Amino acid sequence: MTATTTSLPFLRACRRERTGFTPVWAMRQAGRYLPGYRAIRARMSLLDLCKTPEVAAEVTVRTVEVLGVDAAIIFADILLLAEPLGVGLSYVKDEGPAIERPVRTPEDVRRLPDVDPLDGVPFVFDAIRLARGGLAGRVPLIGFAGGPFTMASYLVEGGPSQAFLQTKRLMHGDPEAWHALMERLAALTARYLAGQIAAGVDAVQLFDSWIGCLAPDDYRRFVLPHTRRVIAALPQGVPVIHFGTGTAGLLEAMREAGGDVIGLDWRVDLAQAWGRLGDGVAVQGNLDPAVLLAGPEEIRRGVRAVLDAAGGRPGHIFNLGHGVLPETPWQHVVAMVEAVHEMSRRRA
Ligand code: CP3
Repeated sequence: MTATTTSLPFLRACRRERTGFTPVWAMRQAGRYLPGYRAIRARMSLLDLCKTPEVAAEVTVRTVEVLGVDAAIIFADILLLAEPLGVGLSYVKDEGPAIERPVRTPEDVRRLPDVDPLDGVPFVFDAIRLARGGLAGRVPLIGFAGGPFTMASYLVEGGPSQAFLQTKRLMHGDPEAWHALMERLAALTARYLAGQIAAGVDAVQLFDSWIGCLAPDDYRRFVLPHTRRVIAALPQGVPVIHFGTGTAGLLEAMREAGGDVIGLDWRVDLAQAWGRLGDGVAVQGNLDPAVLLAGPEEIRRGVRAVLDAAGGRPGHIFNLGHGVLPETPWQHVVAMVEAVHEMSRRRA
């Protein structure tokens, strides 16, 4: 971390220090809702975009300029590691990611190669170095990875899922194979995030997006120890945002797993959730992304409700409760960012 970025509002909020206004960024802030991004995607696939560091860095930096957010997130995807793992990754239009050879048996787990992310996905680290240069210290850069459960769920299911039945079948049916898979993924994820930090990101976000499908006790037995190991392995001093959706039943356990910031979705009341998490942690969230489909008045109402719930306490980072929806008019994301800055400045 350099002196140029350590004093920026987003990083101060991660550390629960006072800022003059509430810092804001948007999950999936670069994406199909932006005309510039769509133009690039018209000439290259998502994978090619991620593998072309100059373009990934340009998308990262340009998005910050368009939206006026207080943090950049490197353009990449949580599933990029699936390629060097040898399971076959593609993105199917309108369906999402697809894994050609899902991991479902103990043999499948054993067959996974030992991957060094620096060799497996070198383009991510190149993109980070380039984006950092392009941002020139204006806003901090966030790196990210999938959480171990969410990564396992894609590898086992072979794609997106509603009920995660194959994943749960492995978890409950063969706990030994499950833990072996999670240990492999946790070690890989820790190395991947450490590599991103070495390449220059100022904070990292662990997206364990789908943990909300688990019973609290199962989360504690089958996921928490692995997530804790990922977070504990990271160098001190670089904030970690720990995010999940549908986590109303898991907040205390997520907090135990670790993170300087807990990311909340909109299904929880932010004030109540923060009360349960305790004062020692910052929170990120938690506007329903669907509110951005409505007009400016409704957006301002939604922003105000989230800021009211946070009550001006240091350690709140404004965000959506999940990613920007592809059908969102990009001007509505700008309106949200402006509303957060305006209303929180008035309050400060
Ligand atoms: O936020 C950013 O600007 C950084 C870019 C980013 C992407 N994926 C690019 C992407 C980030 C942070 C992610 C994280 C990610 N990827 C998560 C965790 C966050 C979450 O939303 O829960 C997950 C679960 C994935 C896996 C994934 N990749 C899915 C489910 C999809 C399909 C989504 C869809 O809407 O179709 C992808 C593809 C993907 N990754 C897109 C983008 C911008 C879709 C757009 C495209 O095809 O160009």
